[in-house]
Amino acid sequence: MPHVVTQSCCNDASCVHACPVNCIHPTPDEPDFGTAEMLYIDPAACVDCGACVNACPVGAIKPAGALGDAQLPFLEINADFYKDGRRRRTILAPHEKPLQVASRESLRVAIVGSGPSAMYAADELLTIPGARVDVYERLTTPYGLARTGVAPDHAETRRVTDVFDRISRQDGFHLHLGVEIGKDVTHADLLRDHHAVLYATGASSDRRLDVPGASGTATATEFVAWYNGHPDHAHHEYDLSHPRAVIIGNGNVALDVARILTSPPDSLASTTISRTALEALRTSAIEEVVVVGRRGPAHSAFTLAELVGLTAAADVVVPPADLVGLDESSLKHRTIRALPSEPTAGRRVILRYLLAPSEITDTGVTFTRNALDPETGRTVPTGETEHLKAGLILSSIGYRARPLPDLPFDADRAVVPNDRGRVLDATGEPVPGAYVTGWIKRGPTGFIGTNKTCARETVRELVADYNTGRLKLPALAR
Ligand SMILES: Cc1cc2nc3c(=O)[nH]c(=O)nc-3n(C[C@H](O)[C@H](O)[C@H](O)COP(=O)(O)OP(=O)(O)OC[C@H]3O[C@@H](n4cnc5c(N)ncnc54)[C@H](O)[C@@H]3O)c2cc1C
Ligand SMILES: NC(=O)c1ccc[n+]([C@@H]2O[C@H](COP(=O)([O-])OP(=O)(O)OC[C@H]3O[C@@H](n4cnc5c(N)ncnc54)[C@H](OP(=O)(O)O)[C@@H]3O)[C@@H](O)[C@H]2O)c1
Ligand code: SF4
Ligand code: SF4
Repeated sequence: MPHVVTQSCCNDASCVHACPVNCIHPTPDEPDFGTAEMLYIDPAACVDCGACVNACPVGAIKPAGALGDAQLPFLEINADFYKDGRRRRTILAPHEKPLQVASRESLRVAIVGSGPSAMYAADELLTIPGARVDVYERLTTPYGLARTGVAPDHAETRRVTDVFDRISRQDGFHLHLGVEIGKDVTHADLLRDHHAVLYATGASSDRRLDVPGASGTATATEFVAWYNGHPDHAHHEYDLSHPRAVIIGNGNVALDVARILTSPPDSLASTTISRTALEALRTSAIEEVVVVGRRGPAHSAFTLAELVGLTAAADVVVPPADLVGLDESSLKHRTIRALPSEPTAGRRVILRYLLAPSEITDTGVTFTRNALDPETGRTVPTGETEHLKAGLILSSIGYRARPLPDLPFDADRAVVPNDRGRVLDATGEPVPGAYVTGWIKRGPTGFIGTNKTCARETVRELVADYNTGRLKLPALAR
């Protein structure tokens, strides 16, 4: 019986180097690592040694014989990655050389933010003997979206904070909570005391719908922050009195919200959900959550693992008329096609497709119906409309970073312009001493572990600049 990667995989690839037979893919060296929904164990190559189980920070790897009913689909999900003889024979690249600094002076780096990208960057920097890392976090609790984003019922994924606790306990790590850079302390202040400032501030705002009536619409970003007890969002109130809620957009955030809205409140009581949100959900009249994509089911933005998780928690249905453009060779597509078309009883999640929001009204959302162009596969408006009545309407169309004082900002991509983490000015020249990692560097996509490779890249560039004398000496060392 092989081992199996299950739903809570956060793609940090810790398991890859633990495996003696290189049967976990894609590895960070392989081209599809950046786009992979999770990592997969080759059942034909796994020798069942269990080494990967201990390496995984979020308990995502289980022996096949120990899978619960809700995890059984992951047997096929892992095996499917290796179908058609796609066995991977990549020879793993040896671990990268340890970071080395040329100077005898200790490297001092300020990191702004304490989310996953900040913590992985700190861990990498602290491999340098004598390095000091000061992490500044505007909230009074650390770890960013690992605490205020990850759903409260995803307890295993939240265990990644244990890894961050271990990083925090290393010599040279100093955490400064409740300090907002740009407000309480400036970039120039930090540069006086550090060789470099590494921004890991994430994407704290959201993309907004640009249709009539949308200006006051609540967003999934705020709703998630509310149920996770984020202090900036504790004051929100939501209309849970109508039997239907509509979520616009169908990424993993939309599925998290749909699952929380349809879960029995008692099942959430023992989680980290905010008590205010729990009490509000106890009075909720919502029976049906409609998750709406503007394109077809083949372009569902959620991952297969999260869909499987949702089906284990709620009735998930999809109207047969929406099931167009699916490819039978894709397990994700086959899983969507196999969803029931009728709910059984109780709370349900309806997946709808090819509906682009065109107006938000007092009674609900009006959508323009799209069709798939058979030649190009692109969506084209049909001119037909459909109105979905709802009380709670949430747009879940992605996060968006805010500009940072004293740093350039690319407003189109909502990132700080950079080259492998080195911040670039308007002329494309590096801004001395300024670096970025995580969502502020590459945009609001990717899993917790994706930020590990991202942070490593930035830290390598920072250390290279330090070694070539491009980073000024901190005031304290003068
Ligand atoms: C709702 C949601 C659920 C998710 N669930 C999962 C999941 O289950 N599994 C998974 O693998 N991935 C999940 N992800 C993705 C994962 O959370 C992100 O990839 C990751 O958190 C991004 O890390 P980051 O460090 O770039 O940003 P963040 O995690 O956003 O951290 C940024 C930090 O910077 C701080 N900050 C911002 N500005 C300042 C300032 N000026 N001064 C000081 N501090 C500042 C913020 O308070 C925050 O703590 C989820 C994402 C979302 C949005
Ligand atoms: N459990 C987990 O691992 C987990 C949980 C939560 C989040 N995350 C990760 O966090 C990242 C962010 O997730 P997300 O759900 O916020 O973003 P996302 O995956 O980018 O999904 C955004 C959704 O919004 C839609 N959209 C965008 N603009 C729109 C518009 N103007 N009108 C209507 N629909 C629009 C997109 O449709 P189109 O595709 O048509 O543009 C897509 O369906 C993702 O990488 C996600 O995987 C992971
Ligand atoms: S159980 Fe052993 S052989 Fe199988 S994937 Fe894990 S480390 Fe590799
Ligand atoms: S979370 Fe990391 S260690 Fe665990 S299975 Fe996924 S990639 Fe491997």
